[in-house]
Amino acid sequence: MHTTVGIIGGGPAGLLLARLLHNSGIDCVVLESRDRAYVEARQRAGILEQSTVDVLRASGAGERLDREGLVHDGIELRWDRKAHRIDFPALTGGRRVWVYAQTEVCKDLIALQLKDGAPLLFEAQVRSVEGPDTDRPVIHYTHEGQDKTLTCDYVVGCDGFHGVARNAVPAGVQKTYERLYPYSWLGILADVPPSSDELVYAHSPRGFALLSMRSPSVSRLYLQVPNGTDPADWSDERIWDELDARFAIDGDWTLRRGPITSKGVLPMRSFVTEPMSHGRVFLAGDAAHIVPPTGAKGLNLAAADVIVLARAFAHLKDTGSAELLDAYSDTCLKRVWRAEHFSYFMTTTLHTDPDQSPFDTQLQISQLDRIANSPHAAAELAENYAGLHIG
Ligand code: APR
Ligand code: PHB
Repeated sequence: MHTTVGIIGGGPAGLLLARLLHNSGIDCVVLESRDRAYVEARQRAGILEQSTVDVLRASGAGERLDREGLVHDGIELRWDRKAHRIDFPALTGGRRVWVYAQTEVCKDLIALQLKDGAPLLFEAQVRSVEGPDTDRPVIHYTHEGQDKTLTCDYVVGCDGFHGVARNAVPAGVQKTYERLYPYSWLGILADVPPSSDELVYAHSPRGFALLSMRSPSVSRLYLQVPNGTDPADWSDERIWDELDARFAIDGDWTLRRGPITSKGVLPMRSFVTEPMSHGRVFLAGDAAHIVPPTGAKGLNLAAADVIVLARAFAHLKDTGSAELLDAYSDTCLKRVWRAEHFSYFMTTTLHTDPDQSPFDTQLQISQLDRIANSPHAAAELAENYAGLHIG
């Protein structure tokens, strides 16, 4: 089998890239190791930046998003038993975000692709990519119990942090940057209307907590927990009590409790690999970079990469010039490093490090007070959260 662009991984990056290429008349094949049900159920982030929404709409995948997505004009920060709202449109010249879960983005893109898109093979496990430096790189994969090959003009690794595409970049060329965090998130889904219309990010002496949502009737909540935490150690009552304690403010506010339908622990990591391409192999999304989830940049960064890449492939098709493809890594890394910094900033400002000193805590409080008291400091947060124009 031969295709123009072989895409490894059918997460949001791979699926959106396939949609954008299909719309530009460029043929591609997506190879996804898991089955459809698994990809559609995998719980991940839920915030879309304006630019991500714009591209989903333009690509034809915005219909349900427009019907069911929740438009948010701000977030709330809590610390010291006080609450402060960050107003995105006022601080950014009109930008806002959408609450629409990654699971739903994937479902919409999969449905479109199976209806009229490029081939999408589930349970197709890629083992390796051969010949990134040649003009015919080859993907080796296993499907329906058989070893198969896909020859390509180009290969894009959208296969996440644990994927294999990154191995196509020779070790001597690859530079990686990494930071691990001394805490994780315990995330729950609960069948209860969200207790706030907007997301609430809480700093507290007991650690970080986040109130998010999936719909007007489903809440998504997170608690900072030590690394290695077993969700089984957290009874429903313990979770609600701890959330209550961390969100507490002076004044009226009640956390609504309801049946918890899922519990899971997520580690936190910052990671970047450079360059994001080698020869005819390109990396996009989590295959090239990871951010800790505070600030909700992961999905939006993945979308931004494939938007740049789809534009570069279309430019090649229209003009014969590979200049945008050649610039892909440098173009994306500018946005990636900005998002890395913002995600690190949000994480370290709001979480309590187990080794944190009272001095460190005072610095966090001082930074949060600054955001509350200076429109400039608030705008810096709002612009990064709602999405920057880079690349
Ligand atoms: N062969 C085929 N598919 C693979 C392989 C392989 N060897 N290895 C991984 N995959 C698939 C995974 O099963 C997954 O569906 O690649 C896909 C990668 O998807 P994601 O991990 O969701 O990564 P990406 O599409 O870059 O999206 C980034 O995911 O982690 C979140 O916060 C992050 O929201 C962001 C998004
Ligand atoms: C989520 O809804 O899952 C979510 C929202 C905001 C974040 C992280 C996760 O910063």
